Amino acid sequence: MPVLSGASGGEIAESLAPLLGMEHVVMESRRFPDGESYVRVPLESIEAVRSETVVLVSNTFPDSGIMQTILLLGAINDVRRGSLSSLKEEWKGGTDDVGPGVFLAIPYYGYARQDKRFSVGESISARVVAELISDFCDGIVILDLHAPEVLSEMSVPVEFVSSMKEIAESLQSDVSPDFILSPDKGAISRATEVAELIGCEFSYLEKTRIDAHTIEHTPKDLDVSGKIVAIVDDMISTGGTICRASDALRRQGAKEVHAACTHGLFTGGALSRLATHVDGVYTTDSLPNPRANVSAAPALARGLERLMG
Ligand code: R5P
Repeated sequence: MPVLSGASGGEIAESLAPLLGMEHVVMESRRFPDGESYVRVPLESIEAVRSETVVLVSNTFPDSGIMQTILLLGAINDVRRGSLSSLKEEWKGGTDDVGPGVFLAIPYYGYARQDKRFSVGESISARVVAELISDFCDGIVILDLHAPEVLSEMSVPVEFVSSMKEIAESLQSDVSPDFILSPDKGAISRATEVAELIGCEFSYLEKTRIDAHTIEHTPKDLDVSGKIVAIVDDMISTGGTICRASDALRRQGAKEVHAACTHGLFTGGALSRLATHVDGVYTTDSLPNPRANVSAAPALARGLERLMG
């Protein structure tokens, strides 16, 4: 069975394929001079895509990733349906419709944080993106989605998976934390899971976001003096949340502070900012980044196994 990838997700697809007993196929993908995307199922993989269940690994980030994901799914679906309308060359292969069996694995789901309508007239972008892509596949696996509730009752099954197990293993083997901190209430369930897997103490902070670059934490006494602490979140963007949480931990005597998350966005100089606040950074490879030291593939494999039965 093929695990396909396009412009994003190639490295994860390469690690994922053997976990599922499948073969990695790189789809053709390039850009026209005007920036538009071109994709194609490679000729030598047409029969494999038609004869077996397929998995596509693709991020819906940045915006071009959404378009790329839709085009890749469109090409795969056309091949599976035997759609040859307007074909300019001769084709001697199968032309029957081979039926459903296209699954999408999304390591990083873009627009995840726009999951509410804060003012009238706004779009719930997280939902709109899922509605767009679900027309093109038979099931979706999403890694550590910020707030899974936003994708309830979709038209295709959606499996939500988490890399917290692999993050816990990595933290335990590298730094052996005494204490796990969730930097806000939203990350409590993920951080608790890591603390339970490691078997160490846990607490959380209350965060107020002033704007995209500024956050405030409500002061709280934390029993971290002389301890190695890991802050666990779903994503790091500007790094503001982690840096402020680290400041609070240092003030209360933490010996070492490490940051861990699934999605390392690292926007606007976040890595340099983090370097002055934490002793180490752990992320999965859901997004390519210089701190991607945990594989997202095992979590996606767990979800795909559930989805594909
Ligand atoms: C928000 O609730 C998320 O879980 C993260 O805490 C947030 O996106 C991190 O953003 P930043 O790194 O910009 O503070």
